[in-house]
Amino acid sequence: MSLTVGFLGTGRIAAPMVRSLNRRLPDCAIRISVRNRKFSGRLSALPGVTVMDNQDVVDRSEIVFLCLLADVARSELPGLDFREGQKIISVMADISLAEIGNLVLPATDPVVTVPLPFIETGGCPLPVFPDGEVLHTLFGNENEVILVNTEDAMGPHFAATAILSHTMKQLDVVADWLSGFTGSRQNAERYVASLLTGYLGSLEKDGNGRFREAMEDLSTEGGLNNQLRAHIGQSGFYETLRQGLDGLEGRLRERAPV
Ligand SMILES: NC(=O)c1ccc[n+]([C@@H]2O[C@H](COP(=O)([O-])OP(=O)(O)OC[C@H]3O[C@@H](n4cnc5c(N)ncnc54)[C@H](OP(=O)(O)O)[C@@H]3O)[C@@H](O)[C@H]2O)c1
Repeated sequence: MSLTVGFLGTGRIAAPMVRSLNRRLPDCAIRISVRNRKFSGRLSALPGVTVMDNQDVVDRSEIVFLCLLADVARSELPGLDFREGQKIISVMADISLAEIGNLVLPATDPVVTVPLPFIETGGCPLPVFPDGEVLHTLFGNENEVILVNTEDAMGPHFAATAILSHTMKQLDVVADWLSGFTGSRQNAERYVASLLTGYLGSLEKDGNGRFREAMEDLSTEGGLNNQLRAHIGQSGFYETLRQGLDGLEGRLRERAPV
């Protein structure tokens, strides 16, 4: 498939997206912003990836990904000439589609999605609103494109990604604790990583209540899992988690008025 895809912004999220696209669709011509020479220099070594200024990226791409910080988008996009029929896909957390729509006129109908850096190796869920067709063409099959019903539900999808660092913290605490008994931090980390990835890998991802089913399976009365979950629940941890997610959702809603 011969496609032209541009990236405005060449930072932490654009770079793995470019590498993924380059691996998946080698015939796709990818244009990237000259910014961030550390990333753009390395990416330009890939066949099919060309570094150019922002207007050239826009002029020479049918599909343009906006991978900028929201405030940079607000100042940079009004100076660029987009065109009718161009497909615009934003990955920006805190700017509304209505605002993006105004910034990229006369291009219309921008789309928003939530990629994460592990899109590079695949298996990255891609919530999208309002239309997932282009995203599916570029990243589908190995990354599940999940069509979201409303723009209001996109902020909470961005917020939900924040469980990753918090989950790493929990795993780090467990590995640390375990290594206090074994004397090997490396073996402890390997054990905990395999325990969790193996368990999650075995879980069906069809959305049919598998978390609750798994908790039931892990809820033998008097069992170890049951005891630890009850202990942590009593500390108010799960309410705190919900409050933290609510706080993120509120922050994103405030920063992205529709
Ligand atoms: N990181 C993630 O995992 C992730 C996931 C989902 C969504 N997002 C969203 O993606 C967006 C970018 O995040 P990021 O983490 O990739 O940030 P980042 O690493 O700071 O990347 C921002 C990029 O924008 C470039 N830039 C700055 N001014 C520019 C201009 N005038 N023209 C063109 N490019 C310009 C920067 O170049 P210089 O370095 O040269 O300034 C850099 O390449 C954010 O809106 C964020 O919400 C990020």
